[in-house]
Amino acid sequence: MPCLLLCCVFLTLPVFVRADECKDVSVKNEAISVDQPFAFNCVPPPETSGEVNITWYKDSNKIPITKNIQSRIHQYQSWILFLPLTEEDAGIYQCVIKNINSCLRIHVNLTAFRKYWCVTSRNALLNLSDEYIQTLHFGKDDGLTCHLHFPDSFVLELITWYKDCKEIKDERFYSRGIKLLVNNVSLEDGGKYACEARLTHAGKVHRVLNSINVDITEKIEYGDRVPKITYPRNNSIEVQLGSTLIVDCNITDVRDNTNLRCWKVNNTLVDNYYGESQRIREGLESCVPLEQYNKYTVNITFLEVKMEDYGRPFVCHAGVSAAYIVLKLPAPDFRAYLTGGFIVLTSVAVSIMCMYNIFKIDIVLWYRSAFLPTGTKDDGKRYDAYVLYPKPQNGSQRHDMDMLVLKILPDVLERQCGYKLFIFGRDEVPGQAVASVIDENIKLCRRLIIILVPESLGTGLLKNESEEQITVYNALIQDGMKVILIELEGIKDYTDMPESMKYIRQKHGVIQWSGNVTEESQSAKTKFWKKVRYHMPPTRYPPSFSTSTM
Ligand SMILES: *[C@@H]1O[C@H](CO)[C@@H](O)[C@H](O)[C@H]1NC(C)=O
Ligand SMILES: *[C@@H]1O[C@H](CO)[C@@H](O)[C@H](O)[C@H]1NC(C)=O
Ligand SMILES: *[C@@H]1O[C@H](CO)[C@@H](O)[C@H](O)[C@H]1NC(C)=O
Ligand SMILES: *[C@@H]1O[C@H](CO)[C@@H](O)[C@H](O)[C@H]1NC(C)=O
Ligand SMILES: *[C@@H]1O[C@H](CO)[C@@H](O)[C@H](O)[C@H]1NC(C)=O
Ligand SMILES: *[C@@H]1O[C@H](CO)[C@@H](O)[C@H](O)[C@H]1NC(C)=O
Ligand SMILES: *[C@@H]1O[C@H](CO)[C@@H](O)[C@H](O)[C@H]1NC(C)=O
Ligand SMILES: *[C@@H]1O[C@H](CO)[C@@H](O)[C@H](O)[C@H]1NC(C)=O
Repeated sequence: MPCLLLCCVFLTLPVFVRADECKDVSVKNEAISVDQPFAFNCVPPPETSGEVNITWYKDSNKIPITKNIQSRIHQYQSWILFLPLTEEDAGIYQCVIKNINSCLRIHVNLTAFRKYWCVTSRNALLNLSDEYIQTLHFGKDDGLTCHLHFPDSFVLELITWYKDCKEIKDERFYSRGIKLLVNNVSLEDGGKYACEARLTHAGKVHRVLNSINVDITEKIEYGDRVPKITYPRNNSIEVQLGSTLIVDCNITDVRDNTNLRCWKVNNTLVDNYYGESQRIREGLESCVPLEQYNKYTVNITFLEVKMEDYGRPFVCHAGVSAAYIVLKLPAPDFRAYLTGGFIVLTSVAVSIMCMYNIFKIDIVLWYRSAFLPTGTKDDGKRYDAYVLYPKPQNGSQRHDMDMLVLKILPDVLERQCGYKLFIFGRDEVPGQAVASVIDENIKLCRRLIIILVPESLGTGLLKNESEEQITVYNALIQDGMKVILIELEGIKDYTDMPESMKYIRQKHGVIQWSGNVTEESQSAKTKFWKKVRYHMPPTRYPPSFSTSTM
């Protein structure tokens, strides 16, 4: 037991010693009416730095106020709370602020009294020191503030305003947060007001009643007492239609100035103007205490900017000061338009080109069949095409070639399309010399059709009987005669080809024969024959005259 006692003494000793070392910084006098909650915040002086421990004591009692939030009097963070205050609570309270190397002490002299509110027989008692004095400016829109100095955890549930003991019902008065806004202040608005607030904290409801003595002043305060609006500055804001916009109104004002700070449109509070939709509304006022003055911020939120909002001044008021913003549609971005237009035009052009390339043959053939006159033009030529082809040695290939050249080609191009062909081996006058046949007749033709088979590269066309022919189509190329190259089977390797053939292939392209060489009659409307007809001289299809002479 003696040991335990010793321990206790040892533990409490430093507290005594340190408490005595503490420096008294200030004494605050608070006169509060009983039966309502009271809260006092112990704010460390600005010079204290680092982590601080704040402890509340009553009188010279060395035992700290409890932190149990169920207790009627308790410490909550740096606050001391009386929920509610009673007459016995009067006394001196000490707030001890400790950090690593200093200890400061603030004294609060708390006086508790009973207030007789709205009891006419005791009028004298109405002049109580807890009354707040506020001023309204005559002829202006102004406001009163209900002083509710409690920790943030206290939630304001309801506030009711009274004037001369009667609840205020006038339309010129409008309750907003802890404020009572007064439109067009008149001389009769002076007098005794009260605000009654219901706050909840830790699940309990508390009722606060403050009386406010209101004076009406006609003079406008100049100099430092005029609130300054640092933003907006009568500027315009570019904003897209339909977007959300939040604009701060930043105001600097002397401390405890109850100047009304609000946003208005068409001289009406935005909250009233957009009452039902709440599309545009004012935010709650926030306050940052600075050394010389307070900085207040009230924002305005446009949930969705509409056309009607443009060009309209939204005015931020702070007492006698006012400044507005005007919304503006963003200037159209010409570069974007140009780029967009260019992209559209380019893609249209590209698509037209693609379409043309895909349907080129059909378009040209359709045009010919629709608009070309019948008959051939007189250009001194007798034939539409000269057909040049190899004579393979191999039996089946020879048969295929004969089928194609002597049967299918005339069937499609001559009978169905009305062209006139010169086919060597069919149309020459017997007994004529080969070279002179070619030479004479080729000049009478508008096109040269050359048929290639892979074997023709090595043997037929180019080796044997075709020395003259090579000379011929060399000449043709110089004449600028159009050549239609038809490959019977895909030829992959052109390296062995004479230069003239490579040139023709490169310049005129090649048409690939598809399908078998059979006896069945073919239609001029198949893809292959359309390609051939496309390269043939323009003529009307189907020919208007009948050439069914087979
Ligand atoms: C504050 O109190 C806590 C314990 O309650 C202690 O650990 C801490 O060191 C104290 N800080 C200061 C600055 O005294
Ligand atoms: C506390 O305030 C009351 C009334 O305001 C005053 O009478 C009393 O002397 C004050 N006590 C101290 C210690 O300042
Ligand atoms: C109210 O009290 C103040 C001092 O706090 C005093 O100047 C004023 O004359 C009093 N008014 C009445 C009506 O008693
Ligand atoms: C303010 O009220 C006065 C009468 O009290 C009236 O003449 C005046 O037109 C009102 N002003 C506005 C802006 O409503
Ligand atoms: C207005 O004040 C707020 C809060 O202090 C700040 O964040 C904001 O940047 C200020 N706006 C302007 C335009 O000064
Ligand atoms: C603005 O207010 C005036 C009256 O103060 C009213 O006549 C007018 O119609 C209002 N304008 C709009 C756009 O609401
Ligand atoms: C606008 O004010 C409200 C308080 O009413 C606040 O919660 C919100 O963060 C503010 N918005 C901006 C962007 O400052
Ligand atoms: C902004 O316009 C108001 C009138 O609406 C005027 O009183 C104020 O001086 C103007 N402020 C600035 C910074 O131009």
